[in-house]
Amino acid sequence: MTDIERFIAQGVRRRDAYHVPSGAFPIKLDAMESPYRLPIELRDRWLHALRDIALNRYPSPDHYERVKARLARSAGLAADTGVILGNGSDEILQNILLAMAPEVTVVAPTPTFVMYEQIASILGRRFVSVPLKEDFGLDVGALKAALVRHAPAVLFLAYPNNPTGTLYPEGDIRALMEVDDTVVVVDEAYHPFAQASFLGALAEAPRLMVVRTLSKQGLAGLRFGWLAADRRWITELDKVRLPYNVSSVTAASIEFALDYADVFADQAARLRGERGRLYEALRGQVTVWPSEANFLLFRPPVAEDAERIHGRLKEAGILVKNLAGAGGALRGCLRVTVGTPAENTAFLAALAQAL
Ligand SMILES: Cc1ncc(COP(=O)(O)O)c(C=O)c1O
Repeated sequence: MTDIERFIAQGVRRRDAYHVPSGAFPIKLDAMESPYRLPIELRDRWLHALRDIALNRYPSPDHYERVKARLARSAGLAADTGVILGNGSDEILQNILLAMAPEVTVVAPTPTFVMYEQIASILGRRFVSVPLKEDFGLDVGALKAALVRHAPAVLFLAYPNNPTGTLYPEGDIRALMEVDDTVVVVDEAYHPFAQASFLGALAEAPRLMVVRTLSKQGLAGLRFGWLAADRRWITELDKVRLPYNVSSVTAASIEFALDYADVFADQAARLRGERGRLYEALRGQVTVWPSEANFLLFRPPVAEDAERIHGRLKEAGILVKNLAGAGGALRGCLRVTVGTPAENTAFLAALAQAL
C-alpha cells in the first residue's frame, strides 16, 4: 500500500472516476442533452441580462431567494414547501446523503441512475439495490421488504427512470411512500418529457423530496438543479450546502430561462414528437423499450453485437451510450438520446448499416 492510498477512504479507493467520453462527435446522443441551443435572438438578451452582474461579489442570499420564489411560484408549491438550489441535481443528491445519519440505508431499484450508488459508496453509506422486474417495472413487494428490513432508509426513484425510460405507475410510488421510516426522493430529471410529477404530493407527504434539473432541457452547461420538500428538510439540507454553490451567472441565467419557459417547453414538445418517430423506426430493427424520457434504450437482435455497433456508430461520427458492459438486465444494451430530426435520421441510417 502506497502512502497516498492509506489516506483515501475505501469507498473512494475501490472505484474509478465518473467517465465522461472526450473527443468531438458531430452527432452527440450519449448524455441526454438537448440538441437545441438558445435561439440566436435570445442569446443577446441573455448576455444583456448578465452584463450588470457584480462578479467581484459573492452571490447574494437575496438573489437565491428570488430564484427560489420564482421556482416555487412556477411549480405552484404550497407555503410549507421549501426549495434548495444546487450546482446540478447531482450536487443535491450528494447533499441529501451528506445530511443523512450514517445508519440510513440508501435503497434504489436497479438498473437506474448510477450516481445514487456512486455517491452512497463514496460517502461510505450502505447501498441496497433491488432489481427491477423483467419489463423494468418496480417490484413493489421486494422494495417494500427491503425498506422495512433496512430501515431507516432513503429510497431514490428516477421518474422516469434512467437508463430504461420507464415512468413507474403513480400508485406504485404512493405505496412505497407509505412505508414507515422511509424517505422517498423522486428524481424528476426528465420531467419535461414525461409531464408527470410528484410536486403536487409534497404538501401531504412530509417524507417526500422531489428533485429537478434544467440540464435535460437545454441548460446542461449551466449546472443547475433544485429540490422541493417540507421546509424542515430544507433547514437541514441548507447546513451541508456550500455557501455559494450556485454562481451569480447561473442564478441570473435561471431567472432569464424562467422568463422564456415557453421556448424550452416548445423544444421539449418537439423532442417528444421525435421520440415517437425514433421509437417506431427502432421497433422494426431492434428490441426497444417504451420511454417517457428524452432517450431510448435498445438492444440489437444479437446482444453480443452491441460493442461492435457502438464502434461503428462512433466511426460514423455518432456517439450513443454503451451500456453493454453493465451486464445483467442491460446486457447488450445501448441508449440513444433523442436529437434533432436530422440527427435522428442520420442515427437510424447509420444503425441500419451497422446492423
Ligand atoms: C435521473 C437523473 N438524475 C439526475 C441527473 C443529473 O443531472 P444534473 O445535470 O442536474 O446533475 C441525471 C443525469 O443524467 C439523471 O439521469
